[in-house]
Amino acid sequence: MRGERTEMPASEQRFLSALYTQEKMHTLKVARQAGAYAQAERVLKMEPADVIAAVKASNLRGLGGAGFPTGMKWSFVPPKGDRMHYLVVNADEGEPGTCKDKHIMRGCPHTLLEGIIIACHAIHAEKAYIYVRGEYVRPMERLSAAIDEACAAGLLGENHMGTGRRLVVVVHPGAGAYICGEETALIESLEGKKGQPRNRPPFPAIEGLFRCPTVVNNVETIAYLPFIFEHGPEKWSEWGHNGSGGYRLMSLSGHVERPGVYELPMGTPLMELIEKHGGGVWKGRGLKAVIPGGLSAPILRAEECADARLDFNTLRDMGTMAGSAGVIVIDDQTPMIDVMLNCAHFYHDESCGQCTPCREGTWWMYRIILRIAQGRGRLRDLDELVRIASNIEGNTICAFGEAAAWPIRSYARKFRDELAAFIESGERSREADWHHEDRGAPPLIQIEGVGMPGVRAGV
Ligand SMILES: Cc1cc2nc3c(=O)[nH]c(=O)nc-3n(C[C@H](O)[C@H](O)[C@H](O)COP(=O)(O)O)c2cc1C
Ligand code: SF4
Repeated sequence: MRGERTEMPASEQRFLSALYTQEKMHTLKVARQAGAYAQAERVLKMEPADVIAAVKASNLRGLGGAGFPTGMKWSFVPPKGDRMHYLVVNADEGEPGTCKDKHIMRGCPHTLLEGIIIACHAIHAEKAYIYVRGEYVRPMERLSAAIDEACAAGLLGENHMGTGRRLVVVVHPGAGAYICGEETALIESLEGKKGQPRNRPPFPAIEGLFRCPTVVNNVETIAYLPFIFEHGPEKWSEWGHNGSGGYRLMSLSGHVERPGVYELPMGTPLMELIEKHGGGVWKGRGLKAVIPGGLSAPILRAEECADARLDFNTLRDMGTMAGSAGVIVIDDQTPMIDVMLNCAHFYHDESCGQCTPCREGTWWMYRIILRIAQGRGRLRDLDELVRIASNIEGNTICAFGEAAAWPIRSYARKFRDELAAFIESGERSREADWHHEDRGAPPLIQIEGVGMPGVRAGV
């Protein structure tokens, strides 16, 4: 059934979304009728090294955000010894603007389980954890029911699929923090500790969960594996663009007529997603900017969007990133100070607090931006914001630091004229009313010369 799509034009093919939109696809009976577990059966007869080679050839990139080549990540796992090997499926889905993994877990959980069987075979894992965002109650119920059905059918559990080996899959509810989506914080959380990132090295492939070799992959990355083996890695690579293989689910939100999740080939032009699929900017308004890869991605001005294509390398070369493919559209009536304020508030709130540059830097950026939004900004604040962001970048334990710094720096640089005009007007943004001191922020410090090293202005 899935094979019929090979001859269709690439832009019209659908894989995961063709499954999760079908009635009852969460049940084993319907999933098997659609071909579920056929690829796992085939792959289990292959040598693990050959499975890894095939995934490398497919150009599958991690779809959780970083875009790391999946086959290469798997190849870092040492040969099987006495220690357990684990697969951890990252279903925390915390990046603002991203809402794709829940559709897979809710609509076609058996496709995810089939991908887990394939990945576990490749990395010699006997146990997989799916760490699911705590609010995703329905997806967790569906996943748990699918695991029960798969165990009863011998697809999981002891001697799964007649291999003579055991494969256990556990659903674990997340701890309710954005940082728990970062892979080492997630591992800490799974171990029952506070979800705070670990220093690397050692990387999880060598020392991960319970200090054993562990691969952490996003839900969507794992769920595409059955399709890659069905159509062949070369085809998957060919369907993609510029070093990113195949397809991905793009979450389109913000000021568009038809927000939603669209499954499209890697390298799809950004404007095609917004105009053809999303119905264009809402209310007949103009386009001001787009955040192309979840809130952590540096912003693109409208005039940059024409050349943007949605794959990892193209967006990286444009100074932004494909990230989790959370595409946020901003219309021309939105004040940039409001976008900036909400973004800074989020990262200030979510920093885990371990590293000083991140903990203090996100606080300073938020306080300065709030003051600007309240109509008490100074022109030099824009330079201070760029400086604080640059002091965070590269000086922290985990990539949250960059995730917090890059967007703010991009707004301050790319919308400098608009922000400067706002500061000079002395106006107060309506958005500032939602950010009172009594909503948890410490009081403003008004003393000149006191503050974070490198920040001389009193805020
Ligand atoms: C602050 C932060 C939050 C993250 N949140 C998520 C998340 O919610 N889901 C996810 O899959 N990856 C998230 N990641 C990326 C993971 O650390 C990791 O790279 C990813 O799960 C690996 O899977 P992939 O290679 O399949 O993309 C986050 C990273 C950072 C720095
Ligand atoms: S960068 Fe921020 S979120 Fe990451 S470990 Fe440091 S303080 Fe925590």
